[in-house]
Amino acid sequence: MSEPTDQITTRSAGQPAARPAVETPLADALLAASAGTRASFHALPIGRRASIRTSPLAPSFDALFGSGLYSETTITAPPLDTFFFPHRSLARAEELAARAFGATGTLFVTVGTTASNQIALEALVTKPDARVLADKGTHQSIHFALSDKHAAVDYIEPRVFCEHSERAALALSDIVDRAAAAERAGAPYDLLVLNGQSYDGVVYDIPAILAALAEASPSLTDIFIDEAWGAWSYFHESTRVRTALHARSTGPALERFNVVATHSAHKSLSALRQASLIHYAGDPALGERLRLARYRHHTTSPNQQILASLDLARAQMELEGDALVERSLRLARLVADSVAADPDLGAFSVNAAAPPVALAGHVAIDPTKLSLRVSGLSIGAPELRERLYSQHALYVNRCTPTSLLLNIHIGVLEEDVLALLDALRAIQRSLRPPPAERRISTSFIIPYPPGVPLIVPGEEIGDDTLRRIEAVQSAGARIYTIENRAR
Ligand SMILES: Cc1ncc(COP(=O)(O)O)c(C=O)c1O
Repeated sequence: MSEPTDQITTRSAGQPAARPAVETPLADALLAASAGTRASFHALPIGRRASIRTSPLAPSFDALFGSGLYSETTITAPPLDTFFFPHRSLARAEELAARAFGATGTLFVTVGTTASNQIALEALVTKPDARVLADKGTHQSIHFALSDKHAAVDYIEPRVFCEHSERAALALSDIVDRAAAAERAGAPYDLLVLNGQSYDGVVYDIPAILAALAEASPSLTDIFIDEAWGAWSYFHESTRVRTALHARSTGPALERFNVVATHSAHKSLSALRQASLIHYAGDPALGERLRLARYRHHTTSPNQQILASLDLARAQMELEGDALVERSLRLARLVADSVAADPDLGAFSVNAAAPPVALAGHVAIDPTKLSLRVSGLSIGAPELRERLYSQHALYVNRCTPTSLLLNIHIGVLEEDVLALLDALRAIQRSLRPPPAERRISTSFIIPYPPGVPLIVPGEEIGDDTLRRIEAVQSAGARIYTIENRAR
């Protein structure tokens, strides 16, 4: 498939929009419901823009939310669906999402993956003191949920393998040895919890980890993978192979695992903020437990636009996900190649794009997340981040003392990347004056005491030498410059 262009095609008035060759049942139902409702005697004053039509604040509402906001509705009867136990358009939209991600079933959530993780663990931790082997590097929502469920948790500490990016990962032997030891001791783990695709771009190869565990711990069946950052990776063949929901199809030994994965769809797809997905693969009873857990934990006022955005975002990835991901991969390479080759970007480098050998079998670095090291400027990464935003309107979120994390997601365009590279060049120019011409000494330069030359004729006077001369002088010594008699 070819890459998407960044151009928006406009239609002349009266010309019908081309229907995409993909089903979007929930989005269609919401459009029909908002067009077909004259007034609601239930709720949502803002629906159809009714409560602000004559308000002096209307321009601010409109500028912030656009006309889409006013399609929000609380209608559940036809043409929409009931949220908790759907059987119409939402059920169909969830079924299409499950198919697109390779799951047995999928649940839509409108209150973020923080809540999805709680829902998932409510369904997975089914008894007090359930034995859980957990990655300590997971999101806070997982720690809180495990604690609330009174699970007996054994944590595994991730090992930092790049001090600049602060990237860290679990060693495979740490996971497998702990699971095998528990099995030998007659107290196998009930659940394994991993942060499958981290904020910093550390990606576990879930099929590889489950293949190792299948042998080491035959009693372990339930696996929960927080893949908050990774929904996009299901839509490109180079990244799909490591994903949680793909694992069970990689070999008969892995079919016995029940896998639950959560996606912050809003982080990597064209979905509204807080749009989140819970997928499961395996035992259908797990699907029932997840629905019940969603019923207990989710707001009873799900946002219809967030739901519809999940439907559209999935459809978009099925239609053009491959091309969108290709573009991100190409733009990430463009940044890395420019930084490596351009002396005007010499103050920057990309932190290693591959994991160290010890982790290579089960860890990869997300190619769309570049860790940009800042080493040649008089300012550190936090100050650079601040300047990128205040002077160039370019926002970067994650930063360590020495690196910035550039997430080249599907909404980053080529012009954005070129603007970022230009901004980095401009900042480097402003902070790193061009190197002075080489100065070759024609003299001996000798501090006294002790009378030992710092520089002999023919030697280059570098910044180091100038600093030493200053230090010697401020310590009270005198500097003698003695011409070379031989010349
Ligand atoms: C790994 C991980 N899991 C879960 C979450 C929570 O997701 P949300 O912001 O959708 O609640 C985050 C948020 O940054 C995250 O990084």
